[in-house]
Amino acid sequence: MNEFVKKYAVDRYKTNSLKWDALDVRFGDPDLLSMWVADMEFQTSEKVIEAMVERCRHGVFGYSYIPDDYFKAFSHWMEKRHGFPIEKEWVRFSTGVVTTLYWMINAFTKPGDACMILTPVYYPFHNAVKDTKRKLITVDLVNNNGYFTIDFAAVEKAIIENEVKLFIQCSPHNPAGRVWTEEELDKIMGICKKHNVLVVSDEIHQDIIIGDKKFIPAGIVGNGKYRNNLVTVSSASKTFNLAGLLHNHIVICDEKIRERYDEYAKTVNQSEVNVMGATATQAAYTYGEEWLERVLEIVKGNYQYLKEELGKKAPEIVVTTLEGTYLVLLDLRKYINPEDTKIFIQDKCRLAVDFGEWFGANYQGFVRLNLATDPKYVKKAVANIIDEIKRL
Ligand SMILES: Cc1ncc(COP(=O)(O)O)c(C=O)c1O
Repeated sequence: MNEFVKKYAVDRYKTNSLKWDALDVRFGDPDLLSMWVADMEFQTSEKVIEAMVERCRHGVFGYSYIPDDYFKAFSHWMEKRHGFPIEKEWVRFSTGVVTTLYWMINAFTKPGDACMILTPVYYPFHNAVKDTKRKLITVDLVNNNGYFTIDFAAVEKAIIENEVKLFIQCSPHNPAGRVWTEEELDKIMGICKKHNVLVVSDEIHQDIIIGDKKFIPAGIVGNGKYRNNLVTVSSASKTFNLAGLLHNHIVICDEKIRERYDEYAKTVNQSEVNVMGATATQAAYTYGEEWLERVLEIVKGNYQYLKEELGKKAPEIVVTTLEGTYLVLLDLRKYINPEDTKIFIQDKCRLAVDFGEWFGANYQGFVRLNLATDPKYVKKAVANIIDEIKRL
């Protein structure tokens, strides 16, 4: 067994885990193999755990303050890995990326305004627009046999026709698996700029790069020329498996946008930062690189295995090209009727997955599997799918 898996993989049953202990509540069946939701079966880096234990031993969990070393660690990580050093003045904090998306919609648009997303996309993007009583504009990505691209003409048309005010960008894209090229980002952000559409770029998956493409933060596209039309939201939570700590970054380079955000934030956020989230994030960005590299190897291995095995034994399943994120989308429609997906995947294959229609109306028949897990689960999931396909 792989040394990393031996050391870090854990059984998460009976740990109040949403992924493993809420199967009954979420899927009506407690005995499924859980391949849904985006967190990992790996303990985070021991350096992160040590920093948190030390903090716990101190035993005081009073109001917290973010030290300069925190900003240095964050900026250094962003510069080293993504070529985007972050200035302290640009950074604000929140208690989750999804919460932040709601805030951005409220801060920068009015009820009834149109907000755009590119589907299929992470379902809270849809909810954020609908729950805040904005008009949801979806533009489908183009699906070239599992490789998704942007239909720029359709995007521009949708913006003009609906007077879109805000675009929630997903980069890298969940669940399309794309790491957008600088050219693609330049085009879409150029269109947004031309039509005064604020770009809110969700870059939570920035460090989970599986293929050869380099992740380009929206803030450095065209040497930073879109910074005056941009809010970037990110977190160490996907990278280091810290989602339960509820801590993330809002990066706003532009002073005017920052002022507007700060005015809004006064009305919704009067909290200091989460001390454990900040402690973990600082340690992760300071010491966690080696751990991350090992996780990426596991995800790549799991993806290669799934792709090869399905390619050989269930070749009509379209496996999305995974450039980034640890979430792979499978298109099952050549084998099953889209309406039968749940019966097939859940009742027959015994898997808990994220269903395609959660990500967009046209994606019934797709399922999303989480690959940041012990390879034994990926093998089991793939074997179950292949066995059930043979029985069709
Ligand atoms: C694109 C994207 N944004 C946000 C989140 C969740 O962020 P948070 O837990 O900080 O709300 C996820 C989790 O899967 C995600 O895929």
